[in-house]
Amino acid sequence: MRVLVAGATGVVGHPLVGALRERGHQVSALVRDESRAPDADRIVVADALDRETLLSGVRDARPEVVVHQLSALRLLREDPPEAFARTARLRTEGTANLIEAARAAGARRLVAQSIAFAAVPAGAPVLDEDAPLYVDAPDPGWAATVRAVAALERLVLDTGRDLDGVALRYGTLYGPGTAYARDGGTGQRVLAGKLPLPEGGAGVTSFLHVEDAVGAAVAAVESTSTGAFHVTDDEPARAARWLPHYARTLGAPPPRTIPATLAPRLLGWFMAHQLTAARGAANDRARAALGWKPTHPSWRDGLGHGPRVAPDGEGTR
Ligand SMILES: NC(=O)c1ccc[n+]([C@@H]2O[C@H](COP(=O)([O-])OP(=O)(O)OC[C@H]3O[C@@H](n4cnc5c(N)ncnc54)[C@H](OP(=O)(O)O)[C@@H]3O)[C@@H](O)[C@H]2O)c1
Repeated sequence: MRVLVAGATGVVGHPLVGALRERGHQVSALVRDESRAPDADRIVVADALDRETLLSGVRDARPEVVVHQLSALRLLREDPPEAFARTARLRTEGTANLIEAARAAGARRLVAQSIAFAAVPAGAPVLDEDAPLYVDAPDPGWAATVRAVAALERLVLDTGRDLDGVALRYGTLYGPGTAYARDGGTGQRVLAGKLPLPEGGAGVTSFLHVEDAVGAAVAAVESTSTGAFHVTDDEPARAARWLPHYARTLGAPPPRTIPATLAPRLLGWFMAHQLTAARGAANDRARAALGWKPTHPSWRDGLGHGPRVAPDGEGTR
């Protein structure tokens, strides 16, 4: 099939281009900077927020399936407010532009990245896709993020009869290039002993190895199923389990325990929420509907693994 990947320089998008080509698809890589493009059958240079350029670039590629892996979360380390604001814009305006471009190009299927950790933290420790999204979270920043996620899913799942939509709700990504890699933001924080464990550590995280995010996107491209699916590993874990394990694997000091009431002030609202209250996300529907299953079923086997930094800097990615 002819597949266009938007976000083809990204943590998921870049390896996805290669994985789709290995399956025999003809892949167009949509990038902003041609010099950073992966090997692809065609390169489309366009900014997803520039409607006209996007429409003409996508039309020329004539994709049958469009994959949306756009985000600006790479900016998180330098400028978190800008990273969230730009990502929200990509989820709303960027998604609307991409859908218009996909439809104008004659595509019949759209596969978009969403997140599996946006649910209201109520009920069972592990939730399915019917759980309501936390659009009224007490933190205005997280509420705005979840509203943009909800808007993206509405756009993707309500595309009408001519274009089928799939929202892949990825769990917390780990592996090369992610925040949880040794050189990522969270990895560095744990190595520096700056991610303490709020007492009880009752928040549940569903992790996902980047290779499985790629695998699920390939499965979604090739499937005919539509809807929103949790794409997560098989072992949702409380913070009290995964954080000490992660620190040990990294060779970091064990996380110190802090009173849960201090967590929002010391860690920021989102991290405090993730470690104390968040729910996990069950992957049964993705398994059944997409015929996908994780090749890394447990975070235990990979979270915190990766090359160590030698004293002279060798081995750093
Ligand atoms: N589920 C999760 O845990 C989750 C979800 C998302 C992100 N993250 C974290 O966020 C970090 C980044 O991951 P990611 O895959 O979302 O982001 P990423 O690796 O930065 O990929 C985002 C892609 O979007 C492209 N893009 C951004 N703005 C664009 C625009 N206006 N027009 C066209 N393309 C645009 C980027 O291209 P350029 O190269 O041109 O910028 C890049 O190809 C990782 O550390 C990851 O762990 C985690």
